[in-house]
Amino acid sequence: MTVTALIVAAGSGQRLGGGIPKQFRPIAGKPVLRWAVERLLRHPAVGSVRVVIGEGQQALAGDALAGLNIGELLTGGAERSDSVKAGLQAIESEAVLVHDAARPFCPPLVIDRLLAALEFFEGAAPVLAVGDTLARAGTELEDMVERDGIVRVQTPQAFRLDSLRLAYERWSGPAPTDETTVVRAAGMRVAAVEGDAMLDKLTTASDWESAEAMLAGRLVPRTGIGFDVHAFAGEGPLMLGGIAIPSERGLAGHSDADVVLHAITDALLGAAGLGDIGDHFPPTDPQWKGADSELFIAHAAQLVRGGGGVIDHVDCTIICEQPKIGPHRAAMRDRIAFILELPQSSVSVKATTTERLGFTGRGEGIAAQAVASIRLGTFE
Ligand code: CTP
Ligand code: MG
Repeated sequence: MTVTALIVAAGSGQRLGGGIPKQFRPIAGKPVLRWAVERLLRHPAVGSVRVVIGEGQQALAGDALAGLNIGELLTGGAERSDSVKAGLQAIESEAVLVHDAARPFCPPLVIDRLLAALEFFEGAAPVLAVGDTLARAGTELEDMVERDGIVRVQTPQAFRLDSLRLAYERWSGPAPTDETTVVRAAGMRVAAVEGDAMLDKLTTASDWESAEAMLAGRLVPRTGIGFDVHAFAGEGPLMLGGIAIPSERGLAGHSDADVVLHAITDALLGAAGLGDIGDHFPPTDPQWKGADSELFIAHAAQLVRGGGGVIDHVDCTIICEQPKIGPHRAAMRDRIAFILELPQSSVSVKATTTERLGFTGRGEGIAAQAVASIRLGTFE
């Protein structure tokens, strides 16, 4: 069975409020919409993913989805169901998974259950039992509603594409909030499969806080180590820890030879298990000739955070006889903290000599060591 995932992301996020619509806001370092799309793209049964956005949201969506294989962005309408209908016109497959961008963390098992149910039903939706007591209420509490047999209905919802299109053609009611309503109204059967709390929709500020807390609880600490050496050569200034130190001699290197930033970059990449600086910025590549090493360290930080990670602390030791680091330490901490978007207290810069022993002792070059402490998501 060929399956297209249709992700609707054309809303304006009124109930969450604040700035840009919720689907484009980062949670754990990654836009909500990107989380949603990546999760569906990665499921082996999902052949393609298409995304429906609102008028005027192209730039936000382009940034959020950069590099993902989702074809052309589709344009939705005023109500969620208008966005779904616009999407249904643009896809061709036997089955469709209609999904809200505002539910970023879809577990693969839910998709398995939904698609398995399509063998016997026209549609399938993930549901969860309700734990709280249910009642009607205005300002005053009214009658209790029997909660036995009552469920919350989530997305993604799976349908045979022909069935869903037909059901929408026949639908004449007000804008429905999901597709099971439409399909059932057309007399078709929808399976209820087990949902997952990870699929709860981010609707209000309190949902957002709960999701952030849930993600934070799934982060595990990791540590990375970095080391680098550059020989003195040519003229100063000397780039060290992101600042230019007046010096008669500079350091030799393909880039600006900032050993401190290189060591921290490697520590960050090491903590994330993402290889080393040479893998990401090969010294054979002419585009990095004379490059500002801030690019390297900022890229490493972005890689950690892009995967939902958090950078807690970086510590480094500079090993040299000259220049004296003390007078520049605060400026280096400030600069590194600025590049890494960390408070200064999360960056440590230390220095030592080697008692005139070895290559650093003879003043032939500068070495730097770094350790990065990060937390990485286990919710991938
Ligand atoms: N959606 C859509 N087109 C619309 C309205 C909503 O594609 N005209 C999408 C949203 O982007 C979201 C999903 O439908 O991914 C569920 O809608 P909801 O949670 O209501 O999101 P918003 O409409 O953006 O939020 P609000 O109702 O608070 O404004
Ligand atoms: Mg809405």
